Amino acid sequence: MTKKSDPKVLCKFSELDDLTSKSFDVKIKRKTTNIFVTRKDDQVYAYENVCPHAQAPLESDPDKYLNASKEKIVCAIHGAEFSIESGDCLDGLCDGVGLTVVSVDIIEGDLVLS
Ligand code: FES
Repeated sequence: MTKKSDPKVLCKFSELDDLTSKSFDVKIKRKTTNIFVTRKDDQVYAYENVCPHAQAPLESDPDKYLNASKEKIVCAIHGAEFSIESGDCLDGLCDGVGLTVVSVDIIEGDLVLS
């Protein structure tokens, strides 16, 4: 008998390199939602993959959410910039509206939805 995997486990924390991101489809309030996580140092930050400007996905290529210097999250469509740590709008057409935070934890080496 196969053990059913926990749908709240996204991946192993160790699978995320520093200053990289990874996207997942998850169920939030019974709705499938595309989210992405970004590791910075020993923290992971997670947001819904929706730019507040045009309600569009943010990434330029699969799992590419950061600008070239890896200091900010950037929307590939019109270049709005967001804080990695808070999701706050820093510049551009997001007009002060930040990303929607998704709550995650690291538990026993697993990154999980909380
Ligand atoms: S859709 Fe993201 S800045 Fe316009």
